[in-house]
Amino acid sequence: MRSGDERLLNPADLPSSLWDAGSKILSLPPALARAYETLIDRHGPRALANSRDRDDSPVGGLTQEKTDEHFAQAFDGSAARAQLAMLDPKKDATAASNAYIKSLAGNRLSLTDAPCGAGAAALAFLANAAALRASGVLPREPLDVYLIGAELSEPARVYAEELLAELTPSLEAQGIFVAAEFVFWDVTDDLRNTDLIRKMTLAAASNPNRLLVVANFNAFLEKEAKKKDAEPQLAELFRHASGKQSVVVWIEPDMNRAVCSLFPWLCKMIKGAWRRFATVTMNIDDPIATSHARFHLPLNPDQTARVGFAVMPIELVRSSK
Ligand SMILES: C[S@@+](CC[C@H](N)C(=O)[O-])C[C@H]1O[C@@H](n2cnc3c(N)ncnc32)[C@H](O)[C@@H]1O
Repeated sequence: MRSGDERLLNPADLPSSLWDAGSKILSLPPALARAYETLIDRHGPRALANSRDRDDSPVGGLTQEKTDEHFAQAFDGSAARAQLAMLDPKKDATAASNAYIKSLAGNRLSLTDAPCGAGAAALAFLANAAALRASGVLPREPLDVYLIGAELSEPARVYAEELLAELTPSLEAQGIFVAAEFVFWDVTDDLRNTDLIRKMTLAAASNPNRLLVVANFNAFLEKEAKKKDAEPQLAELFRHASGKQSVVVWIEPDMNRAVCSLFPWLCKMIKGAWRRFATVTMNIDDPIATSHARFHLPLNPDQTARVGFAVMPIELVRSSK
């Protein structure tokens, strides 16, 4: 899978409900926008949503306060970022878009989102898959998904679970049946990481197509300088995400911190660990693909905001030698 490969999802086929090709503006799938608004009204942080500071996006954290701030001010942007990478309407990131679409082929997928926060990356992926099926762009074959959302913050895990419950009828209407668990995960804790890997391995036994999504982790790894503490656990996670029918998509905002620091570090770490194995083919997008667009704010649809991504799809293919 290289960026020059043929596109699996043709931007010309995208429904206008997701991508307005004229104005080049993205809209979240209506079911996801509705689910988000329902939770905002249920839990009350609408005032927070309306008071965001464009230059200082919250990054979440353990407490209810940090979680609410992130959910109200950054969830929609995170979901739009994942959507932009999956649909890739400007053909900036073919390898990433293909990785997402390829993982939907076959009838069984194990999907891990770590750290999931309130589930923006995984739920945007599933809601877009359903919207593409509803508009006839993707075939409506039954698809069983085992979703593991791994996250430090309990309130964020509760939001992810509630959002999925809101989304479920629209997913099932399109033949997407999701079983999910949202589990505690601390990327700096080796034992917790092993627990996550055990769950991923169990899920893969019945759902052999595997997609691991890592989204918007740069503030913790770069700004809080936690790369060194996280590296052994991430390396172990990647070892278990290697092999057939498995892909990792790591997605960040298109900011210097991600493009010039986090991703080069990640690339070096993976290449350093894997190049000694003759039986491994590394497919890593290099240089890193970036893109940006505007999207309608789900809580104020007449307003738009900018969203951008930098993305690294990583395939560690192992031959049987
Ligand atoms: C910027 S948010 C991204 C969440 C989600 N991927 C998204 O795109 O909305 C970063 C997340 O990392 C979580 N986090 C912070 N420290 C962590 C750690 N040590 N282990 C795992 N997750 C952590 C936070 O609770 C927060 O939900």
